Order: sequence, then structure tokens, then C-alpha cells
Amino acid sequence: MSRKIQIAPSLLSCDFARLGAEVAAMQQAGAELIHFDVMDGHFVPNLSIGLPVLASLRRATDAVLDVHLMVSDPLTYAPQFADKGADIIVFHVESDSPVQAVIDVIKAKGKRVGLALKPATPAQAAFPYLEQLDMVLAMTVEPGFGGQRFMADICPKVAALRAECDRLGLKMDIEVDGGIDNDTIGQAAQAGANVFVAGSALFGKPDYTQAVAMLRKNALTDTVAV
Ligand code: DX5
Ligand code: ZN
Repeated sequence: MSRKIQIAPSLLSCDFARLGAEVAAMQQAGAELIHFDVMDGHFVPNLSIGLPVLASLRRATDAVLDVHLMVSDPLTYAPQFADKGADIIVFHVESDSPVQAVIDVIKAKGKRVGLALKPATPAQAAFPYLEQLDMVLAMTVEPGFGGQRFMADICPKVAALRAECDRLGLKMDIEVDGGIDNDTIGQAAQAGANVFVAGSALFGKPDYTQAVAMLRKNALTDTVAV
């Protein structure tokens, strides 16, 4: 079953003084999703952007907004991000909230729901929930910062997630996030990912159309291990 490759530029690396223009340019460049990283300074040791920024962005764009909640209390915040205009809400299985309750609250808001796994969390942590999810996110760096190095040892976990989804007959989106660039995207794609978050590999490039196209091309190219 062929899965649609989707490129999701991470706003963490954009020029926030020009947020609307940056998002419009990435949409124009062919990006399917816009990845919006929310950090609470507790679940991860960093702060980023939150509700008022999402609300402003929602008014400025019809892009599909993929909100990645790196927060300890998604049960409180997920519905608020839904109300501000998120299209997909991804939260961490390692958060302090009960996973099922967060899935329920996101679905009750009519939004797509994703479950994210930190690098040390096994694929099996997502298995009980797969049938209720639209997306699983396998972090390929420790969450908290852009510009880190891709952890190739996460690829077997991506493959395990894909195998379990195939076994269950689920056409799941499997997203990878962290260190995705032209050199690493092929490995993640071959493992079974089809949604690729990229921050530093896209923003700052002189030609976004070319940068998005190049990533997509490298995702589609079979990389054969030697
Ligand atoms: C990291 C964030 C990522 C980050 C990716 O915690 O979840 O979305 O922005 O940035 P790059 O692509 O630079 O690794
Ligand atoms: Zn992210």
C-alpha cells in the first residue's frame, strides 16, 4: 500500500517576525502540513510558541496545522489548541495525562489525533491506541530543540510501528521529527515513515520550493544499505 509522502516544515526554525509569510511560502513550495511545536518548559527544557500565536496563524492561513504538544498536561491544553484552530493534535504518551482521556477530548473536538513517542519509548507503548489514531510520531531526536542530529537507531521502531499498523490493516500516517534532512530522510522513509518534519533543513534555505522538492525526492529514492 503506497502512503502519501507529506513534508511538514517545523516553524521552530522560521523567522517568527514574518510568520504568516513564512507559512505562505512553505505552502506555495508544496508542503502538505505546517508543524507547530509547543513547549512548556516542563515536559521539555525549552519554551516556544502557544495559543495566541496559533490563533493568529489560523486567521492568516488555510494550511493544515500539525500541532506537536511537548507539554506535561495535554489534557488541559489539547482542547484549547483545538479551539484555536489546530487541525491535527499530537501529544506525548510520556506526558502526565491519561492517554485515553486525551485521545477522547481531541476527537470530541473533531480533530485528527496523533500520539508521539520519545526516543527511549518503545513502539509497543502506542500499540493499544493505534486503532483510534490518525498519526503516530516517532521522535528521531530528544524533543526540545531544533537542529539536532538524526538518531538512525530509531528506524527499527518506525518499522515496528508500520508493521503493526499493516497487521491491523490501518493506513496510518507515521511521522518522524528531528534531524530530517536530505541525507537522513531516505532511511526514515524506508523504515516506513511517510510524514517528515523538517525545521533547520528547510527554513533559511534560499529557495523553499527547491528545498521541499529535494526532500521529497530523497524520501522517494530507495536508499539501499551497503
Ligand atoms: C524538536 C521539535 C522539532 C524540531 C525539528 O523538539 O519537535 O519539530 O523543530 O527541528 P530540526 O528539523 O531542525 O531537527
Ligand atoms: Zn515537533
